[in-house]
Amino acid sequence: MAKGRNTVFFCQSCGYESAKWMGQCPGCREWNTMVEEQVVTGAGKTAPKARGSVVSPEKSRPTALSEVSLREEERITTRIAELDRVLGGGIVEGSLTLVGGDPGIGKSTLLLQVCRNLAGDGREVLYVSGEESMRQIKIRANRIGDFNEHLKLLCETGLESIGEAIRRSRPNVVIIDSIQTVYHEEITSAPGSVSQVREATSAFLQLAKGLNVSIFLVGHVTKEGTVAGPRVLEHMVDTVLYFEGDRHASYRILRGVKNRFGSTNEIGVFEMRADGLREVPNPSEFMLSGRPRDASGSVVVCSMEGTRPILVEIQALVCPSNFGIPRRQTTGTDFNRVNLLMAVLEKRLGIQLGSCDAYVNIAGGIKIQEPALDLGIVMAIVSSFKNRPIDGNVIAMGEVGLSGEVRAVSMVPSRVQEAGKLGFTTCIVPYVCMESVRQSEGIRIIGVKNVGEAVDLI
Ligand code: TYD
Ligand code: MG
Repeated sequence: MAKGRNTVFFCQSCGYESAKWMGQCPGCREWNTMVEEQVVTGAGKTAPKARGSVVSPEKSRPTALSEVSLREEERITTRIAELDRVLGGGIVEGSLTLVGGDPGIGKSTLLLQVCRNLAGDGREVLYVSGEESMRQIKIRANRIGDFNEHLKLLCETGLESIGEAIRRSRPNVVIIDSIQTVYHEEITSAPGSVSQVREATSAFLQLAKGLNVSIFLVGHVTKEGTVAGPRVLEHMVDTVLYFEGDRHASYRILRGVKNRFGSTNEIGVFEMRADGLREVPNPSEFMLSGRPRDASGSVVVCSMEGTRPILVEIQALVCPSNFGIPRRQTTGTDFNRVNLLMAVLEKRLGIQLGSCDAYVNIAGGIKIQEPALDLGIVMAIVSSFKNRPIDGNVIAMGEVGLSGEVRAVSMVPSRVQEAGKLGFTTCIVPYVCMESVRQSEGIRIIGVKNVGEAVDLI
C-alpha cells in the first residue's frame, strides 16, 4: 500500500486508529491486529452517493419533541417470538441492526426465515447477498419453506449499486449478508477492512434513517486480523445481536448486546433443524429432557441468562482412579472452578477426592460459567462419590466460597419461580437469600449456610 499522509493503521478488532503501527492495540489489548489502510480525506470524502441525498431538506429542520407523532404500527413483527423479544417487541421501522456470530452458526438461515415471514405478511423484502449466488440461496430457501414474490434477491457487493437498488425499490426491510463483503469503489482498502466496513455501515445508516427502511447487517466474528470484527460497528448501529452456541450442539442462543429500542440481556433460544432454525419457547424443558431419575451424581441447577432463568442438569461421575494421577474433566463449565470446588470439599468436609477421577458435565451442550452453579456442582460430586442419588424434585443454587460458605446469588425469586413452573418442589438456596423468597408457595425453600449443610441433605 502506498505510504503517505492519508494512510492510517486500524485495529481490525476494535477499530482503534493510530498513525503508526503497533504490536498491541491500546484499545482492546489484542496483539497484531493493526493493519494499514488508506483513508479518503478532505474533498475526496464525498464518499458514497447514498449519503445526504436521501434525507430531504425539510427533514433537517428542528422539530419539537412533543410534535413528533408516532404512528400506530412502528414495530414489524417477524413472527419469530424469540427474535421479537430480543429485538424488544419486533423490528423498528428505519432501524439498523447488526447480527453477529461465528461463521456457520445460522445467521443467514435465521434472516432468510425472517424474510419468508415478512414477505408472507405482504411486506417488501430485499435480501442482498455478497457471499452466495442466487442458486445457493435458492437451495437453502428450499429447505426452509415457501417464499412468495415479495422477497427479492440481489447478489451484489458494490455499495453504490446496493444503495441504488434500495432507493429504487423502496423495500420495508433489507438484509445485507454480509457487511464484510460490501465495498466502496473509492476506498482502496480490501472489502472487510475497517474503513470499508465503516463506510458501508454509515451509508446504510443514512439509507435506513432517510428512507425509513429497516436494515439488518450480518457481521462475521473472526479472531484473525483479516476481517474487521463487528465490534468496530457496534456504536454505529441501533441494535446488536450476537449468535452464540456450539456449532456441534443443536441449540443456538441469540443475545441482545445493545438495543436502542428495548432491553438488552434478553436471549432467544433456537434449535437448528434440517428445515432451519426452530424456536425453543421453553429452554428449561428442552435442556432437562431425557434426565435420568434416581441416578447418583445428577442435580438440577438454575442459571440466569439475562432476565431469563434456565434450568440445566449437572452430572458428575466420581470413581477411583486406576493411575497415579487422577483424571479431571469438565464439559460446559469452567475446569478450574471444578478443581477449586473439589479442593474445598477435601479441605472443609474431609472428603477424600485425591485418588478419584472426576468428570463434570452440563447436559444439553450449553456452556455456563455462572457462580450460582457452584452449589449444584458440589452436590453432584458428593452424590456421585457417595453413590447416593439426589431427589429429582430438588434444585440447588448458590456460590461457594473458599471457606466452604454458600454465598448469595442474584434474582433468586425468578429462579425459584421457574423451578416451580417445571414442577420442582424443593429449592436449596443460600441462607442469606431466604428472605427474598419466603412468600412463594407450593415450594419448599431450604436455606444452607455452608457446603456441609448442603451435603447433609443428600
Ligand atoms: P448459515 O445460516 O449458513 O450460517 P452463517 O450465515 O451464520 O454463516 O448456517 C449454516 C449451518 O446451518 C450449516 O452448518 C448447515 C446448517 N443448517 C441446518 O442444519 N438446517 C438448515 O435448514 C439450514 C439452512 C442450515
Ligand atoms: Mg451466511
